[in-house]
Amino acid sequence: MRMRRLRRSDQMRALVRETTLEPGDLIYPLFICPGEGVRKEVSSMPGVFNLSVDEAVRDAEEAASLGIGGLLLFGLPESKDEQGTGAWSESGIVQQALRTMRQSSASKKLVLIADVCLCEYTSHGHCGVVIEGRDGFEVDNDPSLKLLARTALSLAQAGADVVAPSDMMDGRVAAIRSALDSEGHAQTPILSYASKFASAFYGPFREAADSAPQFGDRKTYQMDGANLREAMREIELDLEEGADMILMKPAMPYLDVVRAARERFGVPIGAYQVSGEYSMLQAAIQRGWLDRDRAMLESLVGIRRAGADFAITYFAKEAAKLLG
Ligand code: PBG
Repeated sequence: MRMRRLRRSDQMRALVRETTLEPGDLIYPLFICPGEGVRKEVSSMPGVFNLSVDEAVRDAEEAASLGIGGLLLFGLPESKDEQGTGAWSESGIVQQALRTMRQSSASKKLVLIADVCLCEYTSHGHCGVVIEGRDGFEVDNDPSLKLLARTALSLAQAGADVVAPSDMMDGRVAAIRSALDSEGHAQTPILSYASKFASAFYGPFREAADSAPQFGDRKTYQMDGANLREAMREIELDLEEGADMILMKPAMPYLDVVRAARERFGVPIGAYQVSGEYSMLQAAIQRGWLDRDRAMLESLVGIRRAGADFAITYFAKEAAKLLG
């Protein structure tokens, strides 16, 4: 047997290729900030910006014209407080962006996904309500659910096609589902970050979204990176609570988790190539240590091959240009 027979030309390799990657498989994250005409580069993420609503609309239009599947919206509020009011306020920054994007033709070609979390909006930077507890503080689960449900509802009302809770509180999917259903949004799907690990690779995001915890860490709510069985239980529970799609995160150090989920669950799966994965690749690309186009596409094909239906990636625009 000579395996090389099928590798002799581009056409032959294309014919026997097992995994596809298309612009429509990619979701592009955007960080929306107050102001007008703002396009401020995130220093640890070259090519990623904090964008005011008007600039974000431009990026949305470009993403739509490139055939990208959708956007994932994060917000940097004008001010923060203990309860994360900016997350669920009707005039919140992502709510404003959604209302404006809805007016643009781009929104008809994109799925607008709103991230649901409190960490960008709370003064302490945690993903839920903070009370005094055994390590000096504790993130209080059940009171957080009310705020998260309120956030998801307000994002759906502002025009989100999908809400994506990333907080990792227990029971948030059920709380969000019931809030959406009781207020006339029974048709809004939930993409839950079901399997989200406490990861060092979120570092650059916390600069981009200004969401670093001011004390402690997220290990009491995000999962321990060593646990695969626990990840399957998290997914099972989120599906029972009514999640329509699940998200795995980070991607590259956890591709085995994506594969295990693919084999076990019939629902659509997304994987998030997180900020640290992007920054790591960009750093090597900028030094000329890696070939940009090849490294970028290889990292994304790997995510698809592991079993994800779609990938959330800061490379979405650049990858779509190459694929399109
Ligand atoms: C909010 C949230 C985070 C990310 C997505 N949603 C940060 C965190 O959990 O600290 C990380 C995304 C990335 O690193 O690109 N909770």
